[in-house]
Amino acid sequence: MHERTTTYDVLIIGSGVAGLSLALRLPPHMRIALLSKGPITEGSSLYAQGGIAAVLDSADSIDAHVQDTLIAGAGLTDPTTARFVAEHAPATIRWLLDQGVSFSMAAGQSGEETLHLTREGGHSHRRIVHAADATGRAVETTLADLVRRRANVDILEHHAAIDLITAARLGHDTDRCLGAYVLDLPGDRVRLLSARNVVLATGGTSKVYLYTSNPDGATGDGIAMAWRAGCRVANMEFNQFHPTCLYHPRAKSFLISEAVRGEGGLLLLPDGTRFMPRFDKRAELAPRDIVARAIDHEMKRLGIDHVLLDISHRPAEFIKSHFPTIYQRCLEFGYDMTREPLPVVPAAHYTCGGVVTDLQGRTDLPGLYAIGEVAYTGLHGANRLASNSLLECLVFAAAAAEHIQSSAVDLPAPPALPAWDESRVTDSDEQVVVSHNWDELRRFMWDYVGIVRTNKRLQRARRRVELLQTEIREYYGNFRVTGDLLELRNLATVAELIIRCAQSRQESRGLHFTLDYPHPDPALEGVPTILTPPSVRPYGNLD
Ligand code: FAD
Ligand code: SIN
Repeated sequence: MHERTTTYDVLIIGSGVAGLSLALRLPPHMRIALLSKGPITEGSSLYAQGGIAAVLDSADSIDAHVQDTLIAGAGLTDPTTARFVAEHAPATIRWLLDQGVSFSMAAGQSGEETLHLTREGGHSHRRIVHAADATGRAVETTLADLVRRRANVDILEHHAAIDLITAARLGHDTDRCLGAYVLDLPGDRVRLLSARNVVLATGGTSKVYLYTSNPDGATGDGIAMAWRAGCRVANMEFNQFHPTCLYHPRAKSFLISEAVRGEGGLLLLPDGTRFMPRFDKRAELAPRDIVARAIDHEMKRLGIDHVLLDISHRPAEFIKSHFPTIYQRCLEFGYDMTREPLPVVPAAHYTCGGVVTDLQGRTDLPGLYAIGEVAYTGLHGANRLASNSLLECLVFAAAAAEHIQSSAVDLPAPPALPAWDESRVTDSDEQVVVSHNWDELRRFMWDYVGIVRTNKRLQRARRRVELLQTEIREYYGNFRVTGDLLELRNLATVAELIIRCAQSRQESRGLHFTLDYPHPDPALEGVPTILTPPSVRPYGNLD
């Protein structure tokens, strides 16, 4: 049965900084649908603390930003992408200022007001533009307010994309993305959205790990949907663990920004000894993989459940004005960071790999783009440089907008599309299967595919994920879809992709560290891990 539906020029799946900035960059004559699984502003973007990297100081240079990005990427960052992003960064900050984003300011050399630039690990200069310690909130809420005023944008909150509709899946010879099936969560029904262009801006997948700095929706939906639709996925072994999340049973991995270390914060053992200088000459400002691994090493060596982060030697007023959100939140948990060190642990933070795209955000599937954390553009390589992520969202949103606009002229409307088929499924009577499998998956990913890996642990994780996938497939084939089931199915897919990438990289590089191959293999310098899907998989409840 075919369903009558509105055809959009652009369907944007995801309303973080990538999705919102794309909606604003597209011309007002284009009809746009913007989807989010929860409220429009909910996603990693809202919680970003440190800031956005851009060369804005005359003592700094684009070459230095590129170089720092390449060093952090440990031989796997694509130099062309790094230059493309660094060159577009200053104009991106100007665009944000034009949209009304209010960043922290400071007095310049001759007393004039200028953007305050902070420093983070891996950066050779002060180049992080920020809004105190709540940069993501400032950008996300400003852009969301602007999008709400756009008459050409239909905002569909609480709508979860289930799968992409592609011409190949409908039996056509020439493939193209034609839209998506979407679960209207409050309405509890599956809608079909048809579009000339579809953009995945669904964020990352750190929720696949038990402990994460990310909000609940970071379940890798876009990566899993693109994979099922036949797109290549790359470098999933490189999941970044942020070294410093607050250790507290109720804090749910609240992030303590790297900027705290950038402004002088020191990492200490429980007895007060500093340990980072033993691991790297950049000490607390070494790239994140090194700091997270050092903390993990010390915690395992001493059998302790956290280390300490201390910035109490800086003046209290400085701490309160630079880190008002962190200061306040820590106080709520009983820690006054102006007077005492904070207990911290590493947690999964950022997905460096993702759906393979070019410099315009195009994926392997015509009509499908991927921008932001969901994408693999080559920028982050084996490790992401701090504050390069919001920047990547913004730069690739602008590039994709330009390409969509220039290629939209002669795109025909998609053909009539089949409605979602629920004729063979019923409501689940065993929701516990979903919650149990969800917990199990995230725990074995943390234990076996975390900061330190081995062949044996990866093999164990592979066996478990395959078993879970069989169960999930069975469940998915029999029961009506729910938000939780969709996320579980996607988490299992990305877990499989992470494990397969980790198994195929027989060396240690950047964020991927394995005791079986503890050193980098020079032959693998510049060689990303690229997985190609076996074939286009069917959608609907028969997958
Ligand atoms: P997100 O902001 O995560 O948004 C994803 C969107 O996709 C959401 O709207 C979600 O609802 C939607 N979505 C997902 N799946 C579906 C689906 N199936 N159907 C419909 N909608 C869907 N980076 C920096 O550069 N600087 C920082 O200072 C910084 N600090 C950070 C601090 C924290 C605590 C965290 C978690 C991350 C931080 N990062 C930082 C990383 C950065 O915030 C993210 O990489 C970036 O915000 C990702 O933006 P995005 O638009 O790609 O995705
Ligand atoms: C932070 O503030 O430490 C996060 C920065 C980032 O993830 O880029």
